[in-house]
Amino acid sequence: MKKLSKPNLYLVGFMGTGKSTVGRLVAQRMGLEFIDSDHAIEAAAEKSISEIFASEGEPVFRRMEKAFVEKGHPREGCLISCGGGLPVQPGIMEILKEQGLVFSLMASAAGIYERTRHTTDRPLLQVADPLAEIEKLLEVREPIYRKANCCILTEGRTVGEVVGHVCRSYKL
Ligand code: S3P
Repeated sequence: MKKLSKPNLYLVGFMGTGKSTVGRLVAQRMGLEFIDSDHAIEAAAEKSISEIFASEGEPVFRRMEKAFVEKGHPREGCLISCGGGLPVQPGIMEILKEQGLVFSLMASAAGIYERTRHTTDRPLLQVADPLAEIEKLLEVREPIYRKANCCILTEGRTVGEVVGHVCRSYKL
């Protein structure tokens, strides 16, 4: 089989692990087209993620994420930053791994809480106790994020270091 020169790179991980920031920089450095699953869904629905959750509910949003993955992407040349819950749905991580290389950005619940506590655009974290919610979700999601081709701890590392780590591992 022909070896792809620039296989797609899927960036997954919990909210607040820096997927969009790291993804844009890696895409720039590696000459990949940057695609953000949340932005693609918002553009198609002509609504923000918060509006989709409020008016249609989470299950509808999850169906939109599944459709985004199933419609596929060019086989090479794209970096796709995935919403935190996207690879959690059954079978999705397997599809991502068929379509490219999957990198997980990892962080602790406390670190995620610190990075997300002032944001208001993540409906799942607009609850009375966001830290408890993060811990609960992380317990379910972490084993799935760990199925990626490469897991990168983001805590104690600068954005530049994480970007460098992803770029080096992608080239291997
Ligand atoms: C979600 C993560 C968000 C967004 C939505 C749900 C999740 O994306 O898709 O609010 O379930 O973890 P980010 O991970 O880019 O914040």
